[in-house]
Amino acid sequence: MKGVVLAGGLGTRLAPMTKITNKHLLPIYKKPMIYYPIQMLVDAGIDDIIIVTGGNSAGDFLRLIGNGKQFGARHIHYTYQEGEGGIAEALGLAEPFMEDEKMVVVLGDNILQKGIAHGVQTYKSLPDDHAMVFLSEVEHPWEYGIADVQEGRITRIIEKPKEPPTNLAVIGVYMYPPDVFDSIRTLTPSARNELEITDVNNIYLERGKLKHEVLDGWWLDAGENPEALLRANLIVAREEGVDI
Ligand code: DAU
Repeated sequence: MKGVVLAGGLGTRLAPMTKITNKHLLPIYKKPMIYYPIQMLVDAGIDDIIIVTGGNSAGDFLRLIGNGKQFGARHIHYTYQEGEGGIAEALGLAEPFMEDEKMVVVLGDNILQKGIAHGVQTYKSLPDDHAMVFLSEVEHPWEYGIADVQEGRITRIIEKPKEPPTNLAVIGVYMYPPDVFDSIRTLTPSARNELEITDVNNIYLERGKLKHEVLDGWWLDAGENPEALLRANLIVAREEGVDI
C-alpha cells in the first residue's frame, strides 16, 4: 500500500497566519503540522508517500521534508494542486503515482493519538474492492462529514449537515482501492464548488463496499480554525508530558 498526504488548499480560515505560508507548515507544539500525518503513515508501515501541496510556499515542503529520511520513509513524492478544488480533486492528482496499489489517504491537518497501524491491518484483510473510513465522536457535528448510523451500519454520510443525525464524524483518514480514481472522475462540484471526499465515500457505501471502524483515542482537525490550532498545540504538548 502507498500513502497520500493532502496539503493543498489555501487555508483561508487561518488567515492572516496563512497569508505568507502554507497551513500545514504552521507549528503544532514543536513540529510543523505536516510532520504528524507523515510520521503516522510511516509508523503504520506505509513508507512510499506522495504529498499533494498547493497554494503558498509549496517549495518550502521540499526544503522541510526532502527525501523523507528523517521519518524513515523510503520515497517521498510531490505534486501540486492549483487552486482549491477540493479534497477529492487533490487526491485525483496522485493517480499516476499509485500504479494500481491500494492507498491510505490522510488530510495534512489531521492528528491521531494512536495512529492507524491497526486500521491498516484490518483494511488489508478486506476484499480488494472495499474502502474504509474511521468515525470519531465530535462536539460540533455541523463542521464535519457526519455518518448516519442505524443498527451499526452507516446509511449515508452528509457533509457539514445543518441538522446532524449523529455526532459521529468521518475523520480525515481514508483507505481506498485503486478504482477510487474512476469514482473521482464521476463527481461534480458541490455547493462550495469542491469535489467532495464525502461523495466518494458515499459511492462505496451505495455499492455496499464501505467498511468503518470507530477510532480508538483522540483525533484532531488542527486546521479547522484558530481555536482548533491552539487546542491541537495544547493537546499534543500535554500528550508529550508538558505541564501547560
Ligand atoms: O477533518 C475531517 C473533515 O475534513 C471531514 O470530516 C470532512 O468530511 C472533510 O470534507 C474535511 O472537511 P474540512 O472542511 O475540514 O476540510 P478542509 O477544507 O479543511 O481540508 C482539509 C485538508 O484537505 C486540508 O488540510 C488540505 C486538504 N485539501 C483541502 C482542499 C479543500 C487539499 O489538499 N485540497 C483542497 O482543495
